[in-house]
Amino acid sequence: MGGPVGPSSGGRSVGADLCGIGDLEDVELAEILGHALALRELPSLPEVLRGRQIVAAFAEPSTRTRMSFQAAARRLGADVVAFDGGASTSASKGESALDALQNLDAMGFDAFVVRDRRQGWARRLRGELRARVINAGDGIGEHPTQALLDAATILEVFGRSAAEGKNSLKGLRIAICGDILHSRVAGSDLRLLPRLGASVVAAGPPGLIDPAALPSSVDFAESLDQALVGADVIMMLRVQRERLPAALELPDDVSYHTRWGLSVPRLGLAKAGAIVLHPGPMNRGVEIASEVADGPRSRILLQAHLGVAVRMAVLARACGRQNLLPRAHP
Ligand code: NCD
Repeated sequence: MGGPVGPSSGGRSVGADLCGIGDLEDVELAEILGHALALRELPSLPEVLRGRQIVAAFAEPSTRTRMSFQAAARRLGADVVAFDGGASTSASKGESALDALQNLDAMGFDAFVVRDRRQGWARRLRGELRARVINAGDGIGEHPTQALLDAATILEVFGRSAAEGKNSLKGLRIAICGDILHSRVAGSDLRLLPRLGASVVAAGPPGLIDPAALPSSVDFAESLDQALVGADVIMMLRVQRERLPAALELPDDVSYHTRWGLSVPRLGLAKAGAIVLHPGPMNRGVEIASEVADGPRSRILLQAHLGVAVRMAVLARACGRQNLLPRAHP
């Protein structure tokens, strides 16, 4: 495409991208988590993003993540425009997603929150756009804000301080169970949680986990039961059916639940105060029983709640407005 004109001509905008957990320095990690948890205590939210304009470019289905980013942006005073790249857009006239997003970029937006089925899409855009890029899920790649909100939830429940940084989850055993291989949530959590000092174990059915591909800091368990023993946190993941190779044969839902579903009796294998997380969407009766999802150990709705605060902190960073908190706060 021809050389940029107008707002794109001045190089990349201020702020920082978030394509994967590796983009965050330790100090930034602690800051985002600390800000997210502190924001909840403020009597009113600072409108640090007033005048900023953010594009929510979701080319894959989303309920929580899209609404959470939109709420976060608007509560800090930003405007949000949605672009789904679908039938109502020029994609139906043969325009590529990249051409479309480059044109939107030329209109002068501050940040793009992007979701796409292609792994590496956010990183690709980072090299093409002037605005900052936040990855809201790239195929089987990463979903960094989901992992950050998972960490914020664990910190909140266990009363840990984000300021401890690398040690903030030390002493906690976290079991991540289900479709590890095709989950971008796992992709980010397996990078983030050990970095914060947690002991992490992963388990999933054959074809949905590759023990050799796990980071060296993560343990592999042969069965769900084995992963649950001694766990403080249990994170259940949906089977990502839309991403499975056609040749992969999986058990039917009932058999899956019998072997790999989190039921009330199975929960008894974990520690007495263990909590249950799930990024959603849940498939009740498959990877998780309704009694567990709605039960006293579930913190699934707390995840959704804290997700907005985490995304506020991430959007403020993307727009170069880290001064999110009044000076008295850490
Ligand atoms: C996840 C996603 O889209 O990656 N959901 C979410 O963002 N909360 C997980 C999933 O689809 O299973």
